Amino acid sequence: MAVSGLIMYGYLILHMAGNLWVFAGQQAFDTYAHHLRVLGEPMLPHNSVLWVARLVLLAGLIAHVWSAVLLSKRSHHARGGAGKRYESGQHKRGVQRSYASFTLRWGGAVIALFVIYHLLHLTFNVVAPGGASDSPYQRYVNGFGIWWVLLSYVIALIAVGFHLRHGLWSGLTTLGANFSPATRRGLNLVAIGVALVITVGFLTPPVLIFLGVVGA
Ligand code: HEM
Repeated sequence: MAVSGLIMYGYLILHMAGNLWVFAGQQAFDTYAHHLRVLGEPMLPHNSVLWVARLVLLAGLIAHVWSAVLLSKRSHHARGGAGKRYESGQHKRGVQRSYASFTLRWGGAVIALFVIYHLLHLTFNVVAPGGASDSPYQRYVNGFGIWWVLLSYVIALIAVGFHLRHGLWSGLTTLGANFSPATRRGLNLVAIGVALVITVGFLTPPVLIFLGVVGA
């Protein structure tokens, strides 16, 4: 769960940073999208680096969902099929959970639905709110002029933000980084900070496009 999550985390940081090319205008963004496809040429075939990245992401996604199902079964079994999730005798509230940890399952489902819609929208050009286009920049800008497209991305990105906030903390804990009260505090701060940067970084361009500041 931790390793596959961290692989997707890395992808999201690169994806969010890449999306910021939209501020540099149509030519710059379309050149960036083109470069994703010609990376490694002429030593490697067209699109090959992109396909390797897609396969790694897909493997990460399958491993992540598979681990989630296994972990969920294991925790259900450990509670003897009853009792509250995150119940703990060591915590003053009796449960050891945050809003982010409690929403992981539903949040994960929302993100999965979003990714399907997102790929149909911006990668495959099948769903084209605001108008289809061969230009990745134009596809990006066309959709976010529409309030419900923006709203659906905002909802999905809030789910992504919560998922990332808990995920980074939990993943690094699994990998052994959470070994003292000080590192626990540090991990929490890093997890909140990185999740905020990614969520705000993703949402800033669509909001500015909607307001007519970008792409007008
Ligand atoms: C406001 C938020 C987002 C925007 C504006 C956005 C924009 C885009 C664009 C323009 C592309 C197409 C790139 C191209 O083919 O040239 C793309 C592809 C993609 N996005 Fe996003 N994205 C956002 C959030 C996300 C999130 C949160 C995820 C994952 C949870 C995600 C996963 C993907 C994937 C998997 C691809 C396909 C890459 C490929 O195989 O070519 N995106 N996105």
